[in-house]
Amino acid sequence: MCYAGGMRRTILVTIVGGKLDDYATEQERHEKWRPTRQLTERFRPAVIHLLSIPKFMGVCAKVIADLREVSPETEVVVHPLPPDADADIEDIFGALYEVACALPLDPETDDILVHITNGMYQQQISMFLLAEARVLPGRVVITHDPARAKRDPIRLLELDLARFDQLAARAERRQRDGVTFLKDGIATLNDDYNALIARIEHVVTVSRAPVVLWGPTGAGKSALAKRIYRLWKQRGDVTGEFVAVNCATLRGDGALSALFGHVAGAYTGAASSRDGFLRRANGGVLFLDEIGELGLDEQAMLLDAIEERAFRPYGADHLVESDFLLVCGTNRDLLAAVAAGRFREDLRKRIGLWTFRLPGLSERLEDLEPNLDFELRRCGEQLKRRVAFSREARARYLEFAHAAPWPGNFRDLAASVQRMATLCAGGRITEADVAEEIVMLRAEWGLDRVVAADGGATDTLRADVVLGARAGDFDLYDRLVLEAVLRVCEGTSSLSEAGRLLFGKSRTARAKPNDAQRLARLLAKYGLERRMMWR
Ligand SMILES: Nc1ncnc2c1ncn2[C@@H]1O[C@H](COP(=O)(O)OP(=O)(O)OP(=O)(O)O)[C@@H](O)[C@H]1O
Ligand SMILES: [Mg+2]
Repeated sequence: MCYAGGMRRTILVTIVGGKLDDYATEQERHEKWRPTRQLTERFRPAVIHLLSIPKFMGVCAKVIADLREVSPETEVVVHPLPPDADADIEDIFGALYEVACALPLDPETDDILVHITNGMYQQQISMFLLAEARVLPGRVVITHDPARAKRDPIRLLELDLARFDQLAARAERRQRDGVTFLKDGIATLNDDYNALIARIEHVVTVSRAPVVLWGPTGAGKSALAKRIYRLWKQRGDVTGEFVAVNCATLRGDGALSALFGHVAGAYTGAASSRDGFLRRANGGVLFLDEIGELGLDEQAMLLDAIEERAFRPYGADHLVESDFLLVCGTNRDLLAAVAAGRFREDLRKRIGLWTFRLPGLSERLEDLEPNLDFELRRCGEQLKRRVAFSREARARYLEFAHAAPWPGNFRDLAASVQRMATLCAGGRITEADVAEEIVMLRAEWGLDRVVAADGGATDTLRADVVLGARAGDFDLYDRLVLEAVLRVCEGTSSLSEAGRLLFGKSRTARAKPNDAQRLARLLAKYGLERRMMWR
């Protein structure tokens, strides 16, 4: 077929197939669907390269005779393939590659069509790959039996970039939707947090491995776990339930039975059998919150259950199967829990491949406003009225919020907004409402004790920020000591450096100064770890 300009030739590259290209009777010759003939009629190629294994040379001769009939001007060139090119895909690909490299094809001057309907599927796949790799620099053409085809029986595969772009755009849109969903539609601004959620979306989309959500209280672990479940459910990855278990509430004998179930009469008081959380989560998601609090026996059984996808209920002699996706939440750093002997290293390794640390509110202050608006909308829906700040009130609240410690993170923020939204008159939060709320928050966080003892200073102690809700457990003396220590730590890059500075005098009197250890012990007194200070 000649295109406008009349110069370009059409060149067809095809494999001779023992089935479709062959015919037994004269009637079949004309009536049976034979793709090479069909293509030749349509395109009238200047040249046809017929690739054939020796076994099909007879078929080849028939095809050639046929093509003379429908397009006498077409030049037909036969390229023999080695006899073993109909076994292993590697052999076939290798043979076709050799032949393809040697074909006189020039996409500058010719329109090259690579036909992939004939031959064994190994040959078809190889032809496609060769076209994709531009070893055969043409367009892929697929033919169909015209008697059965719903559309044009000859289709040129348009594997051009635009199509790939469309697919990529669709995947990207799906990913964006997933990320927005995981963020509850909140347009968060903190780059690290946004990257974290995008990473989580990616991991939970492509993997079925357990996920650990680690972070301070109120950072949103439970809320996120639930949204991950909903995302999976929406996408059809799970069909079962979301079973949430707070491991901190599982204690003693009841813990094993709560998790793994028991049979009737397993122990005194077990009148009837019980399924247990793992069984209930079958086909769904098991959310083990506060997994760091799980007892060592339960940890061992859990590890087995995850590995085997089966476990033995308490008192049972049979195994019960359960297949679930596992999400864990933890306040504790599981590495530290392992070091302290409270958590099994093998279980941590098994569940901790994907450990994501959710930042607290004070680590992503850019998100105060988006989250504030989110909470306002949420309260509005609950209270069935629109709730908004006056301009001054909003400014006052934000000013306070940016400097506040937020030990309970988003839970504190949610509670704070809920109080203001409920107490304010007519759905309008005024400066007075904000002032009252600030008093409430300061009291809740124990900040006012410092203010009184300090003689009216309004600065928040760094120590109180770091200690969070536990600040109230310490004497002012201890908090002021910690304040001084933190001030030194902040200017240093390591535990040892800070230790040297802090113990500069007494270390000279020691045979072996170990400042790092001394400082680590001091911090441990406050429940603080080195990693919280230096990364
Ligand atoms: N990303 C978020 N943006 C806004 N609010 C959030 C977000 N995540 C959680 N919240 C809200 O903060 C509160 C606490 O969240 P959640 O219970 O998920 O925290 P958590 O990390 O599980 O805390 P804990 O360790 O105490 O169980 C909830 O009221 C929740 O609606
Ligand atoms: Mg929680």
